[in-house]
Amino acid sequence: MSTEILEINPSNIDLVKIRKAAAIIKEGGLVAFPTETVYGLGADALNPLSCAKIFEAKNRPLNDPLIVHIADKQDIFKLAKEIYKRTLDLIDEFWPGPLTLVLKKSQNTPEIVTAGLDTVALRMPNNKIALSLIKEAQSPIAAPSANLFGRPSPTTAQHVFDDLKGRIDLILDGGNTQVGVESTILDLTQTPFRILRPGGIDIETLRAIIPDIEPYHGNQILSPGMFKRHYSPKAKVIVAEDGNPERVKDIASEFLLQGYSVGIMAKAENKTSYNGDFNLKIIGPERNLALCAANLYSLLREFDKDGTEIIIAESVKEEGLGITIMDRLRKAAAKENHVQ
Ligand code: TXA
Ligand code: MG
Repeated sequence: MSTEILEINPSNIDLVKIRKAAAIIKEGGLVAFPTETVYGLGADALNPLSCAKIFEAKNRPLNDPLIVHIADKQDIFKLAKEIYKRTLDLIDEFWPGPLTLVLKKSQNTPEIVTAGLDTVALRMPNNKIALSLIKEAQSPIAAPSANLFGRPSPTTAQHVFDDLKGRIDLILDGGNTQVGVESTILDLTQTPFRILRPGGIDIETLRAIIPDIEPYHGNQILSPGMFKRHYSPKAKVIVAEDGNPERVKDIASEFLLQGYSVGIMAKAENKTSYNGDFNLKIIGPERNLALCAANLYSLLREFDKDGTEIIIAESVKEEGLGITIMDRLRKAAAKENHVQ
């Protein structure tokens, strides 16, 4: 199959293009589209055969459930059940936005979407292209990140094309995604509510609405599809946990001596600490973690394009979005996968 790319201006959406994409979804095909977090690979969430194609296109194991994207808050009542006031409070505050809610599933949600679980993950993306695609498709859209399984999530249409060309029907190109890391996943079926994956909304922001939210516990595999190794470039990633440039340089020099091509992903504050034969890339200033998050996956993919074999990444402070960035860096660095 050949994969078409259609450019769409997010501030002046061409409905003809959206309808073309929606027709593909309705016919059971796959369309990649931008969200505010990362690009998603969409299929009609109510059509199990279409959803099966997502797993095939990504090489994704069938025990890794999909997030269902909706454009109308009322659709939550169709796809999930046992929805209480606290859920509605969260939705009022944070939807559309990078917050995915795990709820008890209703009978309408196909098994393949939830990987056989009795829960479903739902979110309303804050992106006009995504929302109009869902509306025109007249069905909720199941969409994981539009990368090959295990690779960094795509933040541009080109990233999607690099991974999935020939495997999907269409890519809607709406430019760079703004948040750059995936949504925060909050499990509402447990008491207290619990963060399963840190993401674009940090826990302090959520706690302003629901004070007793259980934080993310990094080393636990809480849901099927949470793998130890994930978001990985081809290069080996080493996270310099203490973030000290002297230590980073020591490690880098060691690999250089062994003949490897070495990259360093540094914070803007430490830019001048590095000179040498390193492929230096700046993730952003630590005081602007949102910018660091927005650059993260793109930089990992750039290192691959440059042929870098070892990436040494400085750590960032584990506050706010820094928790998400460190989670992704550690998963990118993890050696082996853990499949439940
Ligand atoms: O920002 C995002 O969330 C992006 C955009 C495209 O919306 N999507 C995304 O999807 O990151 P994906 O498939 O790459 O990650 C979804 C993860 C799964 O791997 C799984 O861990 C979790 O969501 N998940 C899905 N359904 C779940 C459920 N019922 N219970 C627990 N976790 C679930
Ligand atoms: Mg993913």
